[in-house]
Amino acid sequence: MPLTPEHAPPLANLASLLDEVGRTFERQLARDLPPVNTLCRHVERYRGKMLRPTMVFLCGSAFGSVGERHVSVAATCEMIHMATLVHDDVLDEADVRRKGQTVNRLRGNEVAVMLGDYLISNAFHLCSRVGDPALNLRLGEVTNTLCEGELLQLSHRDDLSLDEPTYFEIVRRKTAVLIGACCELGARLSGAPEPAVAALGRFGEGLGIAFQVQDDLLDLEGREDVVGKSLGRDLEKGKLTLPVIVHLAGGAGARRERAIEVIRARDGAGLLAELHESGALAEARSRALAIVADARRELAHVPQGPARDALDAAAEAIVQRDF
Ligand code: IPE
Ligand code: IPE
Ligand code: MG
Ligand code: MG
Repeated sequence: MPLTPEHAPPLANLASLLDEVGRTFERQLARDLPPVNTLCRHVERYRGKMLRPTMVFLCGSAFGSVGERHVSVAATCEMIHMATLVHDDVLDEADVRRKGQTVNRLRGNEVAVMLGDYLISNAFHLCSRVGDPALNLRLGEVTNTLCEGELLQLSHRDDLSLDEPTYFEIVRRKTAVLIGACCELGARLSGAPEPAVAALGRFGEGLGIAFQVQDDLLDLEGREDVVGKSLGRDLEKGKLTLPVIVHLAGGAGARRERAIEVIRARDGAGLLAELHESGALAEARSRALAIVADARRELAHVPQGPARDALDAAAEAIVQRDF
C-alpha cells in the first residue's frame, strides 16, 4: 500500500512499478553535465511516499493491466510534485525534506529555483514522449492550477481573516487537483468507463484535500524526525491552516486576542496549546475524516478486488499517518 505496508498489503507488482518510476525519473533527468547530475542524484536519493504514482497504478489496476504509459504518467506526476516541493522549500525557507537537506539549504535559492524549473520542464518532456496530447493538456491544466493555489496562498499571507472556503480553495488547487488527476488518468489509461474515471477523479481530489489537512496538522504537532521535513513553517510563513481558522472563527474576546498574539509572535508551542484547548485540532481532524469518508463512497464505481481494497486502505492511511 502507498503509505506503509502495515496499513494494507501492496498489490503484488506495486513495488516493482514504483521502482520503474524511479528508473524512468533517473533516465529522464540524466545529462552529460556533472553539476546537473549531482543535483538530480540529490533529489532522487530520498524517495517520498510516492502517493501520486501509487494512485496512478492502483486506479489503473482496478480496471485492467498497467503498462508503460502508466509508468510515464506516474513519473511525470511525481516529477511535477518534486518540482513544486523544490520551489516550495524556497518559499518556506525550509532546511529539511525527506530526511535530507533541501536544495536551497545545500546549494542556495538560485540553484533551487533553476532545479525546480528543470524538473517541471523535464516532466512535460517525459509526458510528451507518450505521444498523447490529451495527457499533456490535462497535466498542463493541473500544473497551472497548482501554481494558482500557491499564488492564492501567498496573497493571503498573514491574513487573519482567511476563511474556510478560501482555505479549501487553496488546498484543492495546490494539492488535490494533482492527486485527482493521477487517479483519473490511471483509470483512463486502463480503459475505465468515463463515469468511473470521473468518480476516481473526485475520489482523488477528496483524498488530496484530506491529505493536505493532515499535512497541516503535522506541521503543527508532528515530530520532525518522523515526518522528515522542516515543521512549523506554516506559522513562520503566516499561512493560516484549518485548525487556526476554526479556532479564530469560534473564539471571541480574550481567546481570540490570545491566539492572535501567539500567531504574531510566531509562538508555535503557545499556538498548539490554544488549539488543543479549544478543540480546534480535533475539529480539523474530524473534518479530514469526514472528507475521506465522502471520497471513499466514490469507490462504489470501481469493481471489487484487491486494487479497490488498496485504494480504500490508502484513503484511511492518509488521515492516520504521522509522516
Ligand atoms: C508534500 O507532499 C506536500 C504536500 C502536498 C503536503 P508529500 O507528503 O506527498 O511528499 P513526499 O513526496 O512524500 O515527500
Ligand atoms: C504543499 O504545501 C505544497 C505544494 C503543494 C507544493 P506545504 O508547504 O504544506 O508542503 P510541505 O509541508 O512543505 O511539504
Ligand atoms: Mg512547504
Ligand atoms: Mg505542510
